[in-house]
Amino acid sequence: MRFANRVAIVTGAARGIGKAIATRLASEGAAVVVADVNRDAAGVAAKELEAAGRKVLACPMDVSDPAQVAATVQSVLQRFGQIDILVNNAGIVGEVIPVHETSDAEWHRVLAVNLHGVFYCSRAVLPAMLSRKWGRIVSLASVAGKEGNPNMAAYSVSKAGVIAFTKSLAKEVARDGITVNCVTPALTDTDMARSFTPEQRALLASKVPMGRLAAPEEIAAVIAFLASDDASFVTGAVYDASGGRSDY
Ligand SMILES: NC(=O)c1ccc[n+]([C@@H]2O[C@H](COP(=O)([O-])OP(=O)(O)OC[C@H]3O[C@@H](n4cnc5c(N)ncnc54)[C@H](O)[C@@H]3O)[C@@H](O)[C@H]2O)c1
Repeated sequence: MRFANRVAIVTGAARGIGKAIATRLASEGAAVVVADVNRDAAGVAAKELEAAGRKVLACPMDVSDPAQVAATVQSVLQRFGQIDILVNNAGIVGEVIPVHETSDAEWHRVLAVNLHGVFYCSRAVLPAMLSRKWGRIVSLASVAGKEGNPNMAAYSVSKAGVIAFTKSLAKEVARDGITVNCVTPALTDTDMARSFTPEQRALLASKVPMGRLAAPEEIAAVIAFLASDDASFVTGAVYDASGGRSDY
């Protein structure tokens, strides 16, 4: 049990990749906090984990609201007394449209969730990790953050920001027992991928040498490794999980 006595917060854990991560960490012994803006879906996901005998807490939370993030961290500390692992998974694609048609509001909405949310959540858990000299922060970036997907500028920029944040914070806490890494999946078989038009999905799928979408569980497996003691000398990494799409 790699995560016995570990407490993990997974944002956006009500469905998709986040749910697969929560399930994987819980199956290896972690107490898991299902933190998601979708209150009902978070409750359902938490009940499923509980029914499988896992320790779980559902927390309705919008990662783009620092007050909600701080309140969740307090609830987790009250309930479990510690926070060992944060997985910054919550994310949105936003509208798939050209830059010249993108409104101010849409640009800010995508950045607020995908990038500011990662900052708010990481900042909120760091004191608990620093005090115990152990922590794992793993964030979901994307190949879009390395390459830039057409008609997805806000999304691509937000994910590039997650990569830079990861590298910066990793160096900052490198001597404090805390590692900070991110993962760059290519198209993964979730509701997010299903929200694309068939043309957009075909374009993104065609870029993957393996010729298929990732399963959420395949991404969760990489994240579980980065969250474990096995990855003790890995920090500041941009870990590829793209079926060969990324060549750097
Ligand atoms: N699916 C892909 O192809 C793919 C590829 C690369 C990276 N990613 C990244 O992986 C992560 C998960 O993606 P997914 O495909 O599982 O997405 P998804 O849309 O299937 O699920 C996202 C979850 O995040 C929650 N969420 C959205 N906004 C939130 C907010 N403000 N606060 C808290 N929770 C919020 C949603 O309610 C949902 O449960 C995202 O960061 C995404 O950008 C996905």
